[in-house]
Amino acid sequence: MGKEDRDQWIVKCPKCGRIRESCRHVSRDDVRRIIHLLDAGVEVYQAEDEREPPETHVHEAPRPVAQIVTPRFTMADLVLAEATTEGLLDALTELRHKGLMYRRWGLKKVMKKTKGLSLLFAGPPGTGKTMAAEAIASELGRPLHVVNYAQLENMWVGETEKNIEHVFHAALEAGAVLFFDEADAVFQRRGFMATPWMNRDVNVLLAQIENYPGVVVLATNLAKVMDRALDRRVDIAVEFPIPDAALRQKIYTRLVPKEAPLSKDIDYEILAKKYVMSGGSILNVVRQAMRTSLRRGKRHRITMADFTHAAEREMKKSTLMAADHLQEPVRRERIRGYA
Ligand SMILES: Nc1ncnc2c1ncn2[C@@H]1O[C@H](COP(=O)(O)OP(=O)(O)OP(=O)(O)O)[C@@H](O)[C@H]1O
Ligand SMILES: [Mg+2]
Repeated sequence: MGKEDRDQWIVKCPKCGRIRESCRHVSRDDVRRIIHLLDAGVEVYQAEDEREPPETHVHEAPRPVAQIVTPRFTMADLVLAEATTEGLLDALTELRHKGLMYRRWGLKKVMKKTKGLSLLFAGPPGTGKTMAAEAIASELGRPLHVVNYAQLENMWVGETEKNIEHVFHAALEAGAVLFFDEADAVFQRRGFMATPWMNRDVNVLLAQIENYPGVVVLATNLAKVMDRALDRRVDIAVEFPIPDAALRQKIYTRLVPKEAPLSKDIDYEILAKKYVMSGGSILNVVRQAMRTSLRRGKRHRITMADFTHAAEREMKKSTLMAADHLQEPVRRERIRGYA
């Protein structure tokens, strides 16, 4: 829907009701943003439905609650490059010895407050960022609160600030690790906003991160497009590169279950050397090899040919997706599950 269709829609302020450009509670920016949200497919009432607006939507701002996840992975599940592991261990060390660093070793006197810890996980898709966030939470024995782009985008216009505060507050109350997935979408450099997020909202988020006494993890595929103001707020930046051949071989051994009926000719070293891909893609290869084998029948073993065929397919898939990326600016699906 474009600007010319704006008259078909009714913008309602939760306090004054129907408004046009702005009102005391909703600014012109907000209205513009509503239009942006409409474009993104957020639910609205069309003119003919005016008589029956769902009351709860009008009066109650939906509280965007982060998705609460019980961590499934531990550090032992991760196969990572040395530098990546180091970054994670640094974070865990500070979190485990915070009392010592801040009180006995006097850091609090220097910093004037006890700071939380903010981490940035940057790397291509499927390299273990989500897994690592879960692993950090599980090593600390805490839940993980996941906020992704869709949830942030769904925050009610005009109440954004309260909603952001609510997310941080709830995570702190629960002692959770707060995980912003797809952080690049939110923290895009100011001035280049391609999302309904306004500079004001980004400022609110940055301020929250700065003052948050808990653990925040931001994950991104596109560290380059992120707001430079974030650099100063990130305590530890951890890079998640595509694994090298030796790591890929290890990931194969880790991701093929012991119970899977493998034929003797399977050679992970050959697969790892030939096909450059992420751990997430290796997982896809393993699943595809199982499917191909099963199509021959349950009593057949999974062969090297099944793996090679699956890996070839996976490589084609990533070439296809990379080509799409080059042609189109990064566009995000509005509704995306937790991965
Ligand atoms: N370094 C790794 N070690 C072991 N397994 C891995 C690793 N990286 C990826 N995997 C496997 O791939 C799956 C997907 O990884 P994960 O969801 O953590 O990737 P991600 O970096 O968060 O990707 P995205 O950027 O798309 O969110 C994991 O559940 C795991 O099975
Ligand atoms: Mg992820």
